[in-house]
Amino acid sequence: MSKKPFYITTPIYYPSGNPHIGHCYTTVACDSIARYRRMQGYDVMFLTGTDEHGLKIEQKAAEQGVTPKEYVDVIVDKFKSLWKYMNISYDRYIRTTDDYHVESVQKIFKTLYDKGYIYKGEYSGKYCTPCESFWTDSQLDENGCCPECHRPVTFAKEEAYFFKMSPFAERIEKLLTETDYLQPKTRATELVNNFIKPGLEDLCVSRTTFKWGIPVTFDEGHVVYVWIDALSNYITAMGYENSAYNDFEKYWPADVHMVAKDIMRFHAIIWPAMLMALELPLPKHLAIHGWITMNGEKMSKSLGNVVDPFVLGERYGCDAIRYHILREMALGADSSFSNEIMINRINSDLANGFGNLVSRTVAMADKYFGGTLPEERLEADIDKDFISVVTALRSEVDKYMDETKLKSVLEEIFKVVDRANKYIDETEPWKLGKNEADKPRLASVLYNLLEAIRVISTLLSPFMPTTMPKVWEQIGASAEDATYDNADKFGVLPKNVTVHKGEILFPRIDVDKEIDELNAILQKNMEEAQSKLSAEEKGEAPAEPIELAPEITIDDFAKVEIRVAKVIACEKVKKSDKLLCLQLDDGMGGRQVVSGIAQYYTPEDLIGKKIQLIANLKPVKLRGVESNGMICAADTPDGVKVIFVDDSIPVGSKIR
Ligand code: MSP
Repeated sequence: MSKKPFYITTPIYYPSGNPHIGHCYTTVACDSIARYRRMQGYDVMFLTGTDEHGLKIEQKAAEQGVTPKEYVDVIVDKFKSLWKYMNISYDRYIRTTDDYHVESVQKIFKTLYDKGYIYKGEYSGKYCTPCESFWTDSQLDENGCCPECHRPVTFAKEEAYFFKMSPFAERIEKLLTETDYLQPKTRATELVNNFIKPGLEDLCVSRTTFKWGIPVTFDEGHVVYVWIDALSNYITAMGYENSAYNDFEKYWPADVHMVAKDIMRFHAIIWPAMLMALELPLPKHLAIHGWITMNGEKMSKSLGNVVDPFVLGERYGCDAIRYHILREMALGADSSFSNEIMINRINSDLANGFGNLVSRTVAMADKYFGGTLPEERLEADIDKDFISVVTALRSEVDKYMDETKLKSVLEEIFKVVDRANKYIDETEPWKLGKNEADKPRLASVLYNLLEAIRVISTLLSPFMPTTMPKVWEQIGASAEDATYDNADKFGVLPKNVTVHKGEILFPRIDVDKEIDELNAILQKNMEEAQSKLSAEEKGEAPAEPIELAPEITIDDFAKVEIRVAKVIACEKVKKSDKLLCLQLDDGMGGRQVVSGIAQYYTPEDLIGKKIQLIANLKPVKLRGVESNGMICAADTPDGVKVIFVDDSIPVGSKIR
């Protein structure tokens, strides 16, 4: 009988900086699911890759004086070596610069155009380069910045193609609210309220102001919007509209797309709309997880708060890291990373809990029976409850696995680890070992423990694939013993099983010493990362090259009167969140000016300060209040900042 296919994907990562623990979460989670499904007998396709086009990459490459392809090649190698190091068993790796993907995306774009879903128009609005996202004014945050990453946006006005989203609004709403596409489903309300209810806006799907993208075949100068290019990867990598692969029929629709919450909108709305327009079936599940945060913020290269997985892996082994990040993150919530929590978790669950269970059991089998259990046994009533807990574990794990709740899976498994350690306390095998007559009972106890370890380690093996084969070696289990099919059975190991004492699986860590060392490393990394960041990433400069207004002459400039003035009084304009009304001493008898800075300054911040006043502006009324001029302020990544003047400069002085 042919195996049932199972297709799982991670997002494809931007190779715009080195990978970090934040990137590891989705990949390790998908890897664990892929391994579990393989163990269950599915024919698994696990896809990951890199999203290599877009303005952000073009700019980074230019900063380094290399071509975009040269730039991404280096980082893609780093991603691949991290995945190797973390023992990630992907079946296919897609790069959006691969020829077959480029060809397919061009065909997809053309098909959408031919079907009338893509049309030509003009884009005029805001663009966030770090997120590669278009925003309307009403969507910007309170500082006029990107509502997602809160960095400055730039104005973009260009001829562009648009994708009609409205024909799909109703079906998408149903998909989100009436099916179990979203995991967790609680996310549906925010998506529907924020994006569908206000009316799905058409999406701008081409750019003309940069080159690093997939060219639109029928209109030179346009490149395909990077998200249309990226989302298509899930089907092009299976051979949709190309001959590089022939797996589309077999694996599509995907069983699980797993992504973090910041890119949920693209996967919950835009991707289904594209598939609907292409008349393709929709993926079965979209599993959305939170962020790994540090000091309350998303771990990210630009914040400089990244934790290097190579550093942690070298110290504790990649399985401990895999375990820690999966165990801490509940589907849907953020999980805050701290060295202390990680080390305590490794010590309590892995060293004291599971590692200790294995080493105690194997050591006792070795000490009392020379490694090989005798066949003579004595069962006791107390065994029954223990055995039933062990054999029930697999179905608990299956249940949570189907809901992509990996934290719950690990919690269930570790409840049984605790139960097994309790069984040791209850049966006191060290006492049984002292008395020859108790040896049959001791053999039963140790056998039951070895069986529990076999079941636990089998179910843990997708999560910690490097360590579990070592456990099997120690408890004398063969590859045939440690299978999914045997994971709900008891009595699988031979009665006269032979154990092999081995290395300590998870050495106990000295918490204080380790935390000091790790904090020192992290500090150093953060300093290095900060010093390497471009001014833009540090938030010191606008995200894009500054575009100057058309040139003016000195005579034009002379028309503007800028004078020093002092704020005498100030109050908020009624019924406005943004406006302050200032009374100024301008050296000319005084005047009133209204300014949109109420979100950045309180009246008390301003009273008594000297400012720069544009003194000859035509008066206007703002919210019914007369304003005679304007005060000078700068737009910065942290909001609007008034340009204050040194107190020694007299009121009324002309600025030139
Ligand atoms: N290229 C797009 C995805 C296109 S998929 C068709 C992208 N790339 S990314 O590299 O910026 O992020 C990839 C994934 O990693 C996203 O789901 C992102 O949220 C996730 N993470 C990046 N930092 C993270 C944390 N600190 N914590 C958890 N996940 C994080 O978006």
